Amino acid sequence: MLTGAAAKQTISTATSRKEYAGAEACATCHQNIAQSYLGTAHNRTTMAASRANVQGSFDAGKNDLETLDPTLHFRMEDRSGELWQTAVLGEKSHSERIDVVVGSGRNGQTYAYWKGDRLFELPVSYWRDAGWVNSPGYLDGTEDFDRPITARCLECHASYAKAIGETTISNRFEKTSLELGVSCERCHGPGGGHIALHSAHAAGDETAGVKASAEESAPATDLVDINKLVRERQIEACGQCHGGLGKDLQPAFSYKPGEAMDQFIHLDPPDPRINVDVHGNQVAMLERSRCYAESSTMTCTTCHNPHEPERAAASYSTKCMECHEAKQCGEYAKLGEKIAENCIDCHMPMQTSKLIESGEDGKELRPRIRSHWIKVYDIARAR
Ligand code: HEC
Ligand code: HEC
Ligand code: HEC
Ligand code: HEC
Ligand code: HEC
Ligand code: HEC
Ligand code: HEC
Repeated sequence: MLTGAAAKQTISTATSRKEYAGAEACATCHQNIAQSYLGTAHNRTTMAASRANVQGSFDAGKNDLETLDPTLHFRMEDRSGELWQTAVLGEKSHSERIDVVVGSGRNGQTYAYWKGDRLFELPVSYWRDAGWVNSPGYLDGTEDFDRPITARCLECHASYAKAIGETTISNRFEKTSLELGVSCERCHGPGGGHIALHSAHAAGDETAGVKASAEESAPATDLVDINKLVRERQIEACGQCHGGLGKDLQPAFSYKPGEAMDQFIHLDPPDPRINVDVHGNQVAMLERSRCYAESSTMTCTTCHNPHEPERAAASYSTKCMECHEAKQCGEYAKLGEKIAENCIDCHMPMQTSKLIESGEDGKELRPRIRSHWIKVYDIARAR
């Protein structure tokens, strides 16, 4: 791997933010995609704080979190529309306002607040199966409002934040630069040139636009066509966020799909001793699968449509049938055609994380995530 000056040279000229058009700019011409995308977890993975977006309860009796220290508890309050977390320690208290919601809430949410230009994680998170809980990695029974939200955290959960200062561990950002949600341009790259290209032609008439642009010399560079990239590059467009936490080698948000990701983000090979945690590594798991290794075509979009909300897991069985037949399955003899209804739970089962989050009263929470290592699991053998 290249480091330092050598690595910098191999990187294409840094894209100025001006080449990015922003989240709303695509909807004018791609109305259907923009509409269905609104309901996706990507779009909702960071949101402004509001009663609609925060899933935890602010109702009396449900808005407290006890801790291991009997003199310390947390209270969540709605003060005329502003949502606050307060640590109450005997006579003393410390309150901060929930400013940013991290997580669409499929499993849970964490909250952040601004102190000047610094972004911090609040002590109390929400977990769908348990209500208010200590934030991940939070030491129970303590009062700690000083845990930073790093640029890497936003790089996976947001679309942009302009960092102030150089280091990747800093939590200082230009507040107004924060773009919430994973936008179109995180997967497609900067769209400014693409829009200029198509706006120059019959606006609204997509077919005419394409013909005209092919005949004339293009005034601007178009988007990367994801489908034309080699498979490794296609996977990386998702892997920048789905390949494990990793760390930035370049400033966050400088990687663009189509480029070699390892120049920008270093991903640690997954440690086989460590079980899954709330942050799954779908890329590494999928790459271990024979379906991936022994077909040249499987990518993340073989199964997922990134523009639409996810469907029930079993319904993805039709995707398996694009390459397999039910008869191929070793259990077919015993179970017959009905196996076709749900290949998923046997070959991509939910797995429980060893990560323990202590919830209220020392309750243990173990996130469950979908294994992307498609294989034969012993638990799936019919008896
Ligand atoms: C002024 C209209 C317009 C705007 C705004 C626009 N597009 Fe397009 N886009 C088009 C047209 C026309 C096509 C070609 C359509 C076709 O082939 O069916 C296209 C095609 C695409 C494609 C297919 C691959 C390709 O490069 O041809 C992608 C991906 C895409 N647009 C993404 C985006 C994104 C992301 C944005 C916002 C940053 C955006 N578009 C904004 C008009 C627009
Ligand atoms: C910029 C970071 C980023 C990129 C790029 C990205 N994802 Fe995600 N993805 C996320 C985050 C964060 C979540 C969790 C959203 C949540 O629930 O808060 C997520 C969730 C998902 C989910 C679960 C959605 C659900 O509703 O259950 C799927 C499936 C998924 N991503 C697939 C993909 C695929 C396929 C690609 C590439 C085409 C991709 N992602 C690219 C960050 C990203
Ligand atoms: C490498 C990219 C990455 C980083 C860094 C990252 N996340 Fe995530 N996060 C994801 C993805 C992807 C998911 C979806 C879970 C999965 O993998 O199935 C997720 C899930 C979550 C969820 C659960 C969302 C839901 O709807 O259930 C929360 C909460 C969360 N992350 C908070 C954070 C916080 C806070 C940070 C920083 C301290 C952080 N994450 C750092 C990629 C990332
Ligand atoms: C999570 C990553 C991701 C996000 C977010 C995303 N796309 Fe895509 N998009 C893709 C991928 C991957 C493909 C190629 C699809 C395939 O392989 O079948 C694609 C294909 C397209 C295409 C061409 C094919 C088609 O379906 O018509 C258009 C146009 C497009 N995207 C527009 C958008 C717009 C507009 C947005 C935002 C509203 C958006 N995309 C958000 C990953 C993404
Ligand atoms: C793009 C094509 C493709 C898709 C889609 C696909 N597979 Fe595969 N799969 C393969 C290939 C190729 C192999 C290896 C040769 C063989 O066994 O046919 C394989 C192997 C397997 C194996 C044997 C694994 C082992 O470790 O021995 C199982 C089980 C399997 N697939 C199940 C599934 C299930 C379930 C799905 C849907 C979730 C699926 N596959 C989707 C192509 C695919
Ligand atoms: C009830 C659980 C279950 C369901 C449902 C199921 N499988 Fe399987 N599958 C298994 C088990 C167990 C084996 C290993 C059988 C053996 O070793 O004799 C297997 C084996 C396989 C293999 C490997 C065959 C080989 O020897 O290489 C493939 C491919 C496969 N299944 C595909 C599928 C597909 C596709 C579906 C959905 C149509 C499906 N399976 C549904 C449990 C299941
Ligand atoms: C063979 C089909 C298949 C492929 C290929 C595939 N997935 Fe999935 N994925 C699924 C299924 C099925 C689910 C479960 C959907 C559900 O529960 O709604 C899922 C769920 C997810 C989730 C939610 C995880 C959770 O536990 O909540 C994420 C994130 C995700 N996939 C990302 C990816 C990424 C990134 C890739 C490419 C590296 C990928 N997937 C490739 C079938 C696939």
